[in-house]
Amino acid sequence: MPDIIARVKTAGARVLHQIGTVEAARQAEAAGADVLIAQGVEAGGHIHGEVAMLSLVEALAARSTLPVVASGGIASGAGLVAALAAGAQGVQIGTAFLATVESYAHEYHKDRVVAAEAGDTLRTDLFVLNWPAHSAVRVLANSTTKGLGYRPMGHDPDQLPREVIASEGARPIYRYSTDSPIRETTGNLEAMALFAGQGVGAVTDIPTAGERLRAILAEGRAVLARLAEQGRP
Ligand SMILES: Cc1cc2nc3c(=O)[nH]c(=O)nc-3n(C[C@H](O)[C@H](O)[C@H](O)COP(=O)(O)O)c2cc1C
Repeated sequence: MPDIIARVKTAGARVLHQIGTVEAARQAEAAGADVLIAQGVEAGGHIHGEVAMLSLVEALAARSTLPVVASGGIASGAGLVAALAAGAQGVQIGTAFLATVESYAHEYHKDRVVAAEAGDTLRTDLFVLNWPAHSAVRVLANSTTKGLGYRPMGHDPDQLPREVIASEGARPIYRYSTDSPIRETTGNLEAMALFAGQGVGAVTDIPTAGERLRAILAEGRAVLARLAEQGRP
């Protein structure tokens, strides 16, 4: 990692490094990262640690001199304000932007995100073909996760059967692959990795990305105004 950070910085770019533990943050800071993205276990997609976003942000804001960006489960103004209150200087949002007009995710994936609640997601290392064993992701529960009796962790990519369930153009997509359905994907989309964070409950429509951003900011301002009102004697 230090080599890669050095190369990026030599090329004149800033490094925003996503981590899931205090130890990984320490290593990133020592290697020269400019910003720490503190990813909580609530996050959709590949997840780096097992600590909740608010706890991790608080710990890093207290320990590091670098700006901390909160990530994981943020999909509303309340989530934004909570992250800022914990010490974050910004937020990173994935799932709520997956369900927008511009997103290249398949409409099926967007619709499933809109319909889901936080408890419909799970952390698993089942979608791991071509990745190192124990690479955890957060996805929506589906026939693939239920097929293994809800045993979410401890899967070995070398032991999982190879079965084509979908395709992306000429490229076959295997069950247990980390591919999620995009616009071109056809086949058994339900059985694929439907990445989603625990903030899905706040995602109830598919607006443009700009509308999503403006809505979260407006909600955040409303939350701040409500808190200020409550704080008055
Ligand atoms: C569809 C999707 C794919 C993702 N792929 C990766 C990835 O390959 N590597 C990674 O470090 N994080 C990945 N993430 C996690 C994001 O970087 C980010 O931490 C996460 O989206 C934040 O949580 P949220 O989705 O609850 O907003 C992915 C997230 C999503 C939704």
